[in-house]
Amino acid sequence: MVKRLLWALLLSSPVALAAPPAAPAPYASPGGAGLYPVPDAPYTATYRSISLDDLVRLNLTTGTWQGSPKVQKDRAWYDAHFYDTLAARKVWRDGSSPPHYPPFQGPITWDIVPIPQAPPPPCDQPQPTGYDAESCRYVNQLFKDLAKTNPAAAQLAREQVRRGRDVWFKGSFGNQDEEYLHTTRTVGKDNVWYPWLDTRERKHRFTKWGMINDPDCTEGDASTHWYDRCPDAHSSGVLGYRKYYQDPTRDASGKVTFDPATSPYRKDELQKNLRYVLGGPCVQCHVAFDPTNPPKDPNQPRWENIHATIGNQYTMQPMQYVMGTPQDSLSRQVLGLGHRVGTIDTSLVATDFQHNPGTQNNIMDFSNKRLFEEQMKDPVTGKISKARTRHVLKGGEDSVGEHLALIRVYVNIGMCTEECWTPKFPKPGTFFGDQARQKPFDIAQCAKDCEAWNYADAKMPELASFLMTGGPTYLLKATDVDGTPGSAFIDLARVPQGRKVFARECAGCHSSKFAPDNVRADKAALERYYEGHVFGAEDYWQYEFSEAERNSAAFQAKYLAKDPQSGRLRPRQFVGKDFLGQDWLANDEPVPFNIIGTNMCRAMHDNHNAGHIWEQFASETFRQRPSPGSVPQVLNRMVPGLGGRVMGEKKIEGGSGYLRNFSLLSAWATAPFLHNNAIGELTHLKNGAIDYTVRGRVKQFEIAFDELLTSDNPNVTPHRPQKISVTDRDIKLAPREDQQGPIRLTVKKGTPIAAFTSSDPHSPLFMKCDDLVENKGHQFGVSLSKDDKLALREFLKLM
Ligand code: HEC
Ligand code: HEC
Repeated sequence: MVKRLLWALLLSSPVALAAPPAAPAPYASPGGAGLYPVPDAPYTATYRSISLDDLVRLNLTTGTWQGSPKVQKDRAWYDAHFYDTLAARKVWRDGSSPPHYPPFQGPITWDIVPIPQAPPPPCDQPQPTGYDAESCRYVNQLFKDLAKTNPAAAQLAREQVRRGRDVWFKGSFGNQDEEYLHTTRTVGKDNVWYPWLDTRERKHRFTKWGMINDPDCTEGDASTHWYDRCPDAHSSGVLGYRKYYQDPTRDASGKVTFDPATSPYRKDELQKNLRYVLGGPCVQCHVAFDPTNPPKDPNQPRWENIHATIGNQYTMQPMQYVMGTPQDSLSRQVLGLGHRVGTIDTSLVATDFQHNPGTQNNIMDFSNKRLFEEQMKDPVTGKISKARTRHVLKGGEDSVGEHLALIRVYVNIGMCTEECWTPKFPKPGTFFGDQARQKPFDIAQCAKDCEAWNYADAKMPELASFLMTGGPTYLLKATDVDGTPGSAFIDLARVPQGRKVFARECAGCHSSKFAPDNVRADKAALERYYEGHVFGAEDYWQYEFSEAERNSAAFQAKYLAKDPQSGRLRPRQFVGKDFLGQDWLANDEPVPFNIIGTNMCRAMHDNHNAGHIWEQFASETFRQRPSPGSVPQVLNRMVPGLGGRVMGEKKIEGGSGYLRNFSLLSAWATAPFLHNNAIGELTHLKNGAIDYTVRGRVKQFEIAFDELLTSDNPNVTPHRPQKISVTDRDIKLAPREDQQGPIRLTVKKGTPIAAFTSSDPHSPLFMKCDDLVENKGHQFGVSLSKDDKLALREFLKLM
């Protein structure tokens, strides 16, 4: 890897692209200024100095995929063109164009060309944007120890992380086509529009839309065609939405009637997407405010307030694209009412026909996640071999290593939509044969037919290297907008008691110190198993254990040890391991849905099963998971009169039916709880904005915790009131996923959304998943005493 980057650094700049496409100047700085010094203020969130080399050295690598055959052959070219190939667009061949490409699964009549962007200057120079200056601040705080002994290696590791960060914030690889070609098939061309993009919305983009303004931009005016004014020409002004010129609009004779680069402002240009198309990098859902350092004004955050991987709990991301849809359309009902804020059903487009919105959960301490050894098939050669993997996604479905897990998401958010993805979807309106079924995405075909795959494929190691550097955001390190320290929100005196309750009741699932089966089955044994174990950061042992324990010589002799390097006394689990001794607060073990007891439709996700779209992204071992049991077979709820009747049972198999145990790292900052955010509620500030402050997050955590530890049995007092999302008016539905076709079903106001979204229109007799209550389970700890619950709550806040 080190060698590979050296190559890249040597090669960058002099090599020209085969045919450099026209593109807007990368950094059109306002007023010609725009040189940003690199700040060096320390972070309050935790970050980890772990490099790709470290992963190799520590035997923490995963998967067998090293990049497509083309990427492996032309590696030097892809590295040299790293920045040129972060974005792409279609150039339509003679006679073809988007308006003439209505057919679903039509032939490829375009070429993919890159939209070049300038590589940023090295970090010892002033930077062209605040974003780049922040990237330098970020990487400069990493690998400080390495820099002392091997400055060149530290430099390379920092460069990798920086490039990965640029992929996370800017890489879109042509994924704008999902909206402009595929989404329009369902919602209509006129309904894909973004009112929040108008720069006059900037002053309340967070308050009103839950969107995070790009700190580098300012409100624009007529001279910016009423878009934000940004030093980076591709920034839309909102993080996670990159703007690229739309193709010129032409009349029937082919004459250009609107040229995005030169035409004056038109009142309807935003609604018609005349000037720009929007690409979506990963931060679209994953970026939000740093819980340890929230901004004073959420509509005017600074870079130091931004956390790249905490997950955006404030946005209705799926609605942001289709604001033009009528109130009674399927999309608005499902996306607007059927999704909680901070969630998206990631199997919405390549649909598994089950309503299962999930939270964009935080990505923290991935290097501390458990590794599993599994059988996986090489997508090119078909050879099956054993390799390690982390379990990624809530069901642990992505299970062939991070490289493929990460690039899969690019496809899932629109990269190579028309070349590789939608051709594998069932054909709407079909009931029999091959066309009525999803087919597996073919990685080898995609790398051959869609060059954007290779652009992304070449960058996944750097992206992984960036993601590995994210660590927890501890409440004790937080400072609120009014200066209140995070410590004001925890009752530390209760923590030692809470720690014991946690060891007994929760750690069997929520600790990466994986207890053997017989121990996990016995609470007293669990408590003994975790004696002396620190669940939080290394220095939190002073909070987790009582004063008596800490002062006892026997305790110290047993649980502390001298670090051979520093000579310091440290908790044993950290000696020689630094942050790799940190508990990940989950063992990632897949657990059957019926043991967890939460709404089952996320666990029933089956896109990774044999013959389904993501087959190549799950291990053979995943598909051989034992059946977790059966569920009632329920007649489609839309069948008049009889809908909802139970008619036998259905066995769950093929890998579905499990949720992996979630990490509770920084759970204080990410309530509401559960995979669907259904436990707990968001709270709001006086101006209507979701309360993003430290106080607000802690309040939301307490509400969610209290609800989680309350019974969901309606016959018990007190119990949780049930949450079921329903339609807010009568709507008409076509029983096809693209909403075309003649038959219009009436769905009455008040119908549960999941009653009509969780059935497969290609096999409509039975519900595909039937589970309406969203805030069920899990019921661990509900019968604890009030005092133990309170102690557990304070303990968890510390994590
Ligand atoms: C549309 C919103 C959205 C976008 C854009 C998005 N994600 Fe996610 N991401 C999610 C959601 C929701 C989940 C949880 C999915 C689940 O398991 O149910 C998630 C989960 C993940 C996870 C797994 C975390 C874990 O704990 O297992 C990774 C890794 C990830 N995303 C990477 C990416 C990458 C890489 C990109 C860009 C290519 C990206 N995401 C873009 C919404 C998004
Ligand atoms: C049998 C394993 C198991 C046990 C025991 C267990 N959990 Fe969980 N926990 C899970 C799983 C799996 C999920 C994800 C469920 C879902 O979202 O549908 C989860 C989710 C959570 C969440 C939500 C996390 C988030 O980010 O939304 C919290 C909080 C939590 N558990 C706390 C606890 C506490 C406190 C205890 C002990 C009283 C406990 N759990 C015991 C398996 C377990």
